[in-house]
Amino acid sequence: MRIAYYNHTSAVSGAEMNLMVTAKHYTKAHPVIFAPEGELLDRARKDWLEVVPLASFNARLSRNPFRLAAGLIGMFKAGWQLSEAVREQDIQVIHANSLRAGMMASFFSWRHRIPVVWHLHDIPPKGLTGWLIRMYAMRAAQSVIAISEPVMKDYLKLGQRIQLVHNGAVLSEFPVKEKEYIREKIRMQLNTPLESKVMTIIGQIAPWKRQEDAIRALHALVQQGEENYLWIVGEPKFRLENELYLEELYRLAERLKVKDYVRFTGFREDIDEICCAADLLLLCSENEPFGRVIIEAMAQGTPVIATSGGGVSEIIQHKRNGLLYTTRNILELVQGIQDIQRNEELRRRICENGIERIKNHFSIEQAAAATEQIYSHLMTGETGTNSGLRQSREVAK
Ligand code: UDP
Ligand code: GLC
Repeated sequence: MRIAYYNHTSAVSGAEMNLMVTAKHYTKAHPVIFAPEGELLDRARKDWLEVVPLASFNARLSRNPFRLAAGLIGMFKAGWQLSEAVREQDIQVIHANSLRAGMMASFFSWRHRIPVVWHLHDIPPKGLTGWLIRMYAMRAAQSVIAISEPVMKDYLKLGQRIQLVHNGAVLSEFPVKEKEYIREKIRMQLNTPLESKVMTIIGQIAPWKRQEDAIRALHALVQQGEENYLWIVGEPKFRLENELYLEELYRLAERLKVKDYVRFTGFREDIDEICCAADLLLLCSENEPFGRVIIEAMAQGTPVIATSGGGVSEIIQHKRNGLLYTTRNILELVQGIQDIQRNEELRRRICENGIERIKNHFSIEQAAAATEQIYSHLMTGETGTNSGLRQSREVAK
């Protein structure tokens, strides 16, 4: 089964990380990554995945009618090129790794005649645009994968054939001795005392990720005389707004006089090691659609405190395998941090249950198998079902 895994951008964030790790864990399907030249294909080549480079196109939908027209023309062009490339490559299913990729892959279905799976990683746009996209998805996509319930919800209302497939993580907790070594190594690299308490927040630097709340929580702790360090891991991507937000974070750390306790690491390749060397992962996002970093940290046995919006509460069960707090509520966040730091029994329980949670419900093997099953159904003519929501509710119990 040759699958064209189509990504419309070469930039790498959670959706692309998920693509690569899932592709490596297929047992039946043979993935071929179709994307513009850049970071994604470089990484895929390093992982020995088959790749097909496509012309680069930054598909951006705008409200400005001229820009919108230019964007649509660009999308049609990219869709045409894709339809040509898949025909040359003997592909059985196209797996489009975003809403935009799905649209581009479906524009020329009449030409390539290959079933298209749309993989949705974001909470869908509201209003007329959202409605139009959903109507188009209903007609054009042979199957739709959503990464969490809020991503899935609006499509369900329209009766779209849609399946919930949560991201999966690789369970590769380091042995105790190696953990100690990694902890020393990373802390030395990041100029952080070995015995100090370390929190980390990992992901693209962007206003909706609210790294500022992690800095504010650090400030509250330092004010109470509790020395803590905060590693802000990741870089701004995609927009100027995100670059400016990083500057804002520097200024905030300085203004609150916690600059000496904050490390801005930039993009790191060794997230498993970062999780293992830190004591706690924070996720402060406004409506995180899923949050791969949560399952990556839990798979390492690192406790997580995360905002309860978006798809996060499908992963974390409060006080059982992590802590949830209300977005923007710094007091609640600080309380959660202190609970974990002061209550060893709670910390241990959360770490152990976290690993179990990943093993039982969020392993990469489960995610890869569920995705391959969708491909098989498409090839045998069976279509998707709406059972995903029911499954996810069962998982969340
Ligand atoms: N990541 C990484 N290095 C970094 C920051 C993030 O490798 O410096 C990875 C992280 O391990 C995760 C992904 O990028 O796999 C981020 O995914 P997530 O779903 O958490 O957030 P997104 O950025 O996609 O919204
Ligand atoms: C998107 C979402 C993120 C999710 C990732 C992988 O980037 O913003 O929440 O974890 O895709 O599915």
